[in-house]
Amino acid sequence: MLVTQSASDRLGQLHFMALCSSSSALRLFLLIPLLIFGLLSLLLLTLHSEDVHNEPGFMFGIVLDAGSSHTAMFIYKWRADKQNGTGVVTQHFECHVKGGGISSYVDQPGAAGRSLEMCLDQALKEIPKERHHVTPVFLGATAGMRLLQISNPKKSSQILQEVGDKIQSYPFNFSGTSILSGSAEGAYGWVTVNYLLENFIKYGFVGRWFRAGRPTVGALDMGGASTQITFVTQEELEDKQEGMKLHLYGQEYSLYTHSFQCYGREQVLSRLLAHLVQSQGFPSLVDHPCYPSDLNRTVILGSLFSSPCTSHYVPDVSEPQRLVRVKGSGRYDLCVGNVSEIFSFQDCPFSHCSFNKVFQPGVRGSFMAFSSFFYTHTFLQRVTGSTITTSSQLGEAAKSVCNMDLHQLLLLAPDERSRLQDYCSVSVFVHILLSRGYGFDEETFPKISFQKKAGDTTVGWALGYMLSLTNLLPAETAEVSKSLTPAVWGTLVFFCGLLITAVLIFILLRVCEQKNKSNKEGVV
Ligand SMILES: *[C@@H]1O[C@H](CO)[C@@H](O)[C@H](O)[C@H]1NC(C)=O
Ligand SMILES: *[C@@H]1O[C@H](CO)[C@@H](O)[C@H](O)[C@H]1NC(C)=O
Repeated sequence: MLVTQSASDRLGQLHFMALCSSSSALRLFLLIPLLIFGLLSLLLLTLHSEDVHNEPGFMFGIVLDAGSSHTAMFIYKWRADKQNGTGVVTQHFECHVKGGGISSYVDQPGAAGRSLEMCLDQALKEIPKERHHVTPVFLGATAGMRLLQISNPKKSSQILQEVGDKIQSYPFNFSGTSILSGSAEGAYGWVTVNYLLENFIKYGFVGRWFRAGRPTVGALDMGGASTQITFVTQEELEDKQEGMKLHLYGQEYSLYTHSFQCYGREQVLSRLLAHLVQSQGFPSLVDHPCYPSDLNRTVILGSLFSSPCTSHYVPDVSEPQRLVRVKGSGRYDLCVGNVSEIFSFQDCPFSHCSFNKVFQPGVRGSFMAFSSFFYTHTFLQRVTGSTITTSSQLGEAAKSVCNMDLHQLLLLAPDERSRLQDYCSVSVFVHILLSRGYGFDEETFPKISFQKKAGDTTVGWALGYMLSLTNLLPAETAEVSKSLTPAVWGTLVFFCGLLITAVLIFILLRVCEQKNKSNKEGVV
């Protein structure tokens, strides 16, 4: 057919043949770089896909829970690409600050801030570097600082300023320090519990979020200085101060919440001792019916009555340096009698009260009891060997612990040596608080579950606090270019461009080959 070609066509073909004549050398010259480029691009892509998988997919948030007896730091993480930012938030890391709570550094300027360094340094390592500046960090202080705010407002704001400065010296997105009110602490604990139990929203197996619409669970929290009870109630609140309305995921929840200041674990122990010293008339030897019978210790009068929770027993201690010897007697009935005296069950101005003239509607539904409630319950189960699911079982377990001496307790729980002397007091206190105080009876008590964690996440107010303050987590759109560093991105684009050029040239050469073949055929 080529015989019938026109002259101009022939001219074009000559040019083409000139180009193709050097084709085999050119092909070799181009194929090797092509191979290298291809391999490099592939390598870069696979290397980088790991990073995409681990790091930029997650957002992080830090909450420092500055309690009365110690500070804990929680790092939370959640997937950045979930619909409307409502992805499941889980705990990534937790760190416990050595030493006491920030309020205990009242006479050591700078020490409260320094105490946080170890955990904040850990956070630097736990959170990918490129996420540091977008990671919010909050510090919330609870009852220990609330008490200091009452007794020494200047010192309390000084400490808060100091810890704030320390946090700001880190590259995170500093989002504030504050002292939570008792009711906020209760409500955030309740949000945490119900968020973790997926009572608000649930991630369905079809890959969508939907409103769970399940009944919520009440929250029972006990720290070192205060204790909180929070639950949803339909009853009219006779004392509006105890109420709180929460709007979550398009639904309104009417909460009853109350925080009892000075009814946390440590303050109850101090109050009980102060009560015993005072009611026995400040003798040099005080009988402590909740201490094991083989325990002897001395206390300094001044330090015992220095807390705002105990100072009302004795407005002015005449000899603050005086030492008082305290001897245990391990008498359960007398212990119950004395612990009951730190509650007041009389003169309720409402139709029903928990104690201390505080209105409380009847407890309803299920509850989760965490922090010191959990530790006390776990200890009682451990040393008595029985599962405690009813109120009378709790009373029985408290009784048997109160009847043990230190020696017996040590054999059963050698790792808790420093706390053993206090378990009788705390168990009796928890029993009275739950049964006579909050009104859990044989029917409602079994609906309390004692838990420390849900999955990997510690139950406390911290998660609920972060969820609320970050506006339930802003979503981030998943963008490829964002997850690659500019340098890697540029290199990739360059190689891809080269690859495309190389492929084009390769195709050109293939066409040449065809042409050459058909030319030869034509000539023959
Ligand atoms: C997410 O937001 C869109 C639009 O803003 C809304 O239509 C959708 O219902 C939201 N989804 C959830 C689970 O809230
Ligand atoms: C409190 O303890 C003391 C000392 O053991 C005892 O004498 C007293 O009767 C107790 N009080 C009550 C109400 O049980």
